[in-house]
Amino acid sequence: MNGHAPAACGQRERDLAAQPQRGAGDENNRGGRHRGHGEVGGSAIADNPGVTPPTLTTPPSLTSALAGHIREAIAAAGGWISFDRFMALALYTPGLGYYAHDSRKFGLMPGSGSDFVTAPELSPRFGQALARQVAQALEATATHEVWEFGAGSGALAGQLLDALGPQIQRYTIVDLSGSLQARQRERLAAWGDKVHWVSELPAQMQGVVVGNEVLDAMPVQLLARIDGAWFERGVALQDGSFVHADQPTALRPPLEVAGNHDYLTEIHPQAEAFVATLADRLQAGAVLLIDYGFPEHEYYHPQRSMGTLMCHRGHLVDADALQDVGDKDITAHVNFSGIALAGQDAGLQVLGYTSQARFLLNCGVLEGTEDAPLAERVMLQKLVNEHEMGELFKVIAFVVDAPERPWGGWQALGFAVGDRTHTL
Ligand SMILES: C[S@@+](CC[C@H](N)C(=O)[O-])C[C@H]1O[C@@H](n2cnc3c(N)ncnc32)[C@H](O)[C@@H]1O
Repeated sequence: MNGHAPAACGQRERDLAAQPQRGAGDENNRGGRHRGHGEVGGSAIADNPGVTPPTLTTPPSLTSALAGHIREAIAAAGGWISFDRFMALALYTPGLGYYAHDSRKFGLMPGSGSDFVTAPELSPRFGQALARQVAQALEATATHEVWEFGAGSGALAGQLLDALGPQIQRYTIVDLSGSLQARQRERLAAWGDKVHWVSELPAQMQGVVVGNEVLDAMPVQLLARIDGAWFERGVALQDGSFVHADQPTALRPPLEVAGNHDYLTEIHPQAEAFVATLADRLQAGAVLLIDYGFPEHEYYHPQRSMGTLMCHRGHLVDADALQDVGDKDITAHVNFSGIALAGQDAGLQVLGYTSQARFLLNCGVLEGTEDAPLAERVMLQKLVNEHEMGELFKVIAFVVDAPERPWGGWQALGFAVGDRTHTL
């Protein structure tokens, strides 16, 4: 095991790695979850004395109980756990993890006590545009149900239910977070029995599956190349604090990373297994996943030497997942080539892949907005502007293509212009 500096030095470790040139390595410095003026690496805080670092918004009793729980898990595992295990515990430990407790999470401004904003929270026109693609997919696959994974506050569900009316016979939500499920039940009460929640997938399902920013919330493993050798970066304890610690590994990024410089990155076995499970269970229908990320040649670009792991709190971003566990979200960008391959290998057909901007424009997001109030148009612009969510966020869609349910080659509305499947 190769011990590393304590959590507070996570940034220093990254600073020691080869500095990325401007170019491919920059994209993740702009985007991810839309978050005002935050920047990666806590630099919005560290370099700007005018910005006050966020204080804990979660009761200290919860964060210390969570830290205690993770310490016990590390001790029980012999002193080291993989990063995906740490991330799962930090985000989803029942009652204690970031997504398991009651903090606000989603909102436009930090003043509301929120940490970040997502597309359906920014503008209902996101869900209205997506609804056009969902409507086409329901019709083309002769299905009548929508399945949403990771429904957050329930905003997108409300938008889709409103827009699609009787075309949806049943709307099923799968969310790991009990506290968010409670929020969704309250928000979606008006739809009565049409909306259901399940904690396990049935052996067979039909319909259109949607997931906005759910893949980025799935735990990732960290791989570090140091002096030319690859290690899996996990978490250990030093004087009771969480520290990164590396173990030799046979794991490798899916693409060879040119050069010999030190390099930190992520792999996504859980997100890929999730897509494979969907493929296995879905008998008829389509899948639409929206998230921030890139194809693998961009993801594993030699210049992206610090990976994409980011934490979100109070609309600021930092790269130190080991500090203040449970009080901030931890995410990584999505390798869309890996997602596409996982779906294809499990029998799905890729229906399209493109930027969020192109997808929403293809779905008519701007139609009828000429006379909309300025505030509404500003939010809409955030969804499609290249420097906001328009380019970093992507949409990938799959369709079931089985002998008994041949896809038939229908052209999906959202990818009619500017499909980038060939770049995956
Ligand atoms: C960043 S939030 C996005 C929420 C919402 N989709 C939105 O756009 O506002 C991630 C959501 O995914 C959920 N989640 C994470 N992993 C999941 C999984 N494997 N299955 C279902 N939900 C999951 C979290 O509980 C949370 O609701």
